[in-house]
Amino acid sequence: MVFETERLILRPWEEKDAESLYKYAKDPEVGPIAGWPVHTSVENSLEIIKNVLSADETYAVCLKEDNVAIGSIGLIPPAQSYTAVADDEIEVGYWIGVPFWGRGLIPEAVKALQKHAFLDLGFSAMWCGYYDGNEKSKRCQEKCGFVYHHTEENKPCELMGDVRTEHFTFLTKQDWLDNQNKKLVFYVHGKGGSASEPEHYQMSP
Ligand SMILES: CC(C)(COP(=O)(O)OP(=O)(O)OC[C@H]1O[C@@H](n2cnc3c(N)ncnc32)[C@H](O)[C@@H]1OP(=O)(O)O)[C@@H](O)C(=O)NCCC(=O)NCCS
Repeated sequence: MVFETERLILRPWEEKDAESLYKYAKDPEVGPIAGWPVHTSVENSLEIIKNVLSADETYAVCLKEDNVAIGSIGLIPPAQSYTAVADDEIEVGYWIGVPFWGRGLIPEAVKALQKHAFLDLGFSAMWCGYYDGNEKSKRCQEKCGFVYHHTEENKPCELMGDVRTEHFTFLTKQDWLDNQNKKLVFYVHGKGGSASEPEHYQMSP
């Protein structure tokens, strides 16, 4: 499938994306905090496209203007989830290259996949997680409507060969629907016709 948002195209990864994947995934600011090692070469990135990013429901995040892969987002099925997830629930994972941070691009992509997961695929809730200290991802999750759920200590991070604390957040389909309705009410009755989003959720820790 291919999704279009205001600024993005989300599309399946292709082997020809190896070079741009390497460009952004070789940066030590990106993979390690998400739990995977930096890419070491274009060939390494190509192998990861073939073996990891080719999974169902995994999408290259591309700007509409050039369709170049600058990040990744994917739905992680219950069997591969990083926490205990019911069969009708799904987890989402994501990253984007450093030059594109801070533009709200991943929240835009997450919101597209929330709609897809709840309305097209029929999942009843979505999970997301971040390792302790990853404030950027925590904030991203807040902006996408996820609410803190629980923390798991001493989790082996296999790809990085270390042990971490991971926080999980959660969004039910019902809460997502309620948020969509609130936005609609605000849009219809609110000031200046602005479909402002409720982005300032409180979340602990
Ligand atoms: C987490 C991540 C996906 C957020 O994507 P994004 O598209 O930049 O998301 P946003 O633009 O909404 O930024 C989220 C927060 O990151 C912080 N941030 C943004 N740009 C930043 C920068 N250049 N330096 C430091 N922090 C920054 C801000 O706190 C921002 O929140 P704000 O919009 O309220 O100010 C991205 O930072 C990333 O890929 N990080 C590395 C990989 C990772 O952590 N993946 C998630 C694993 S759980």
